[in-house]
Amino acid sequence: MSSHATPVPMTSTACGPLSGVAEVPGDKSISHRSLILGAMCIGETTISGLLEGDDVLDTAKAMQAFGAEVTNMGGGNWSVRGVGVGGFAEPDGVIDCGNSGTGVRLIMGSMATSPISATFTGDASLNGRPMARVTDPLALFGTQAVGRKGGRLPMTIVGAADPVPVRYTVPVPSAQVKSAVLLAGLNAPGKTVVIEAEATRDHTERMLAGFGAEITVEDTDEGRVITLTGQPELQAQHVDVPRDPSSAAFPVCAALIVPGSDVLVPGIGLNPTRAGLFTTLREMGADLTYENERTEGGEPVADLRARFSPDLKGIEVPPARAASMIDEYPVLSVVASFALGQTMMRGVKELRVKESDRIDAMAKGLRANGIEVDEGPDWWAVTGRGHGNVPGGATCASQLDHRIAMSFMILGMAATSPVSVDDGAPITTSFPIFEPLMKRLGANVTQGEA
Ligand code: S3P
Repeated sequence: MSSHATPVPMTSTACGPLSGVAEVPGDKSISHRSLILGAMCIGETTISGLLEGDDVLDTAKAMQAFGAEVTNMGGGNWSVRGVGVGGFAEPDGVIDCGNSGTGVRLIMGSMATSPISATFTGDASLNGRPMARVTDPLALFGTQAVGRKGGRLPMTIVGAADPVPVRYTVPVPSAQVKSAVLLAGLNAPGKTVVIEAEATRDHTERMLAGFGAEITVEDTDEGRVITLTGQPELQAQHVDVPRDPSSAAFPVCAALIVPGSDVLVPGIGLNPTRAGLFTTLREMGADLTYENERTEGGEPVADLRARFSPDLKGIEVPPARAASMIDEYPVLSVVASFALGQTMMRGVKELRVKESDRIDAMAKGLRANGIEVDEGPDWWAVTGRGHGNVPGGATCASQLDHRIAMSFMILGMAATSPVSVDDGAPITTSFPIFEPLMKRLGANVTQGEA
């Protein structure tokens, strides 16, 4: 697992046009939720297209530890025999969620209203991330949490034996927090209400409805009001996981900056709570089109076609769009380096508490590669140098963060000198086929330093 992987330095060197079809893996958010909701049903849930990255595999193991039967049927097909809402068994050992904030926070929510205890840990990145944002609302159900200073893992959660439903306004834009409260609400009697001022990814709401829970969403002056009726019998079913827009971002952005490129990334979910990057890229002048637009499993889906875009310009990214592209700012900052003018990104404080402090990690690495970056607590700005003018040449610290490692590999594909990262091992958490997929398109990505 990522927690114990030895560092794998990687280097990316300028390449000729990228071309071909990039079939990216399944959506990470939906993959975690399929396993967790499958474990909370009675009967067999089957999943196709599951992302088999370390983060999701850690969640699969955790569901087994709580008593579900999770089987890898091969070819991305999985089966989960669940134990029902409130049916989790107490795990024998510590639950290791590796690098995954989504995994640990959603699993804490899913066991928080059952009369069991569990101890959670992760890698150095996860053990440094704030958990109080989840344990504070869980305490309202009657759940107890004992962790390290600052609400950090390792942490033991003592589930509420007699949970009460809650009404909670999420104080930060976080789908993980919202989802943890909703999953906890499943085993509380009565109605649990979660209010979010800013819409965040809505996979939990959509999937809960799909699994047969009674859930309503209303847009009000307070924000999105989500009401869940507790103690439903969730219906086991088949989940077809769409391909991940956050992974699609890498081949798409690479194609925009490598001269002559033309890449097709098929079957990408364009749920508006996830597609902010693509809108932003088009505003910057990207030659990015949606082909074969359709609806699959209730979600808008299209094939993305990205071509080299000679006239990219810096823009101000609307802060209201931040939640819909929160994981894509690192790779956006790479594209911004090849644009002319400044790209200003405001309202992005959450970037500082991801797998790494992503503003810090990208700012340091971009500066080392010759790009000017300014930053404040909740904003940063990249001054682009235009195509052919990005020096490169530096080794960057990936800080145990898959998206930082992949972003610098994309930078190297169009920079003048090679770009390296000290450790590309975290890439396997979300995009295990990144290296062969990019190579097939024509990229020069290799293991080792330049
Ligand atoms: C996720 C929510 C986001 C995102 C993460 C996946 C999810 O985190 O960054 O990669 O699946 O709910 P936050 O809830 O912390 O914004």
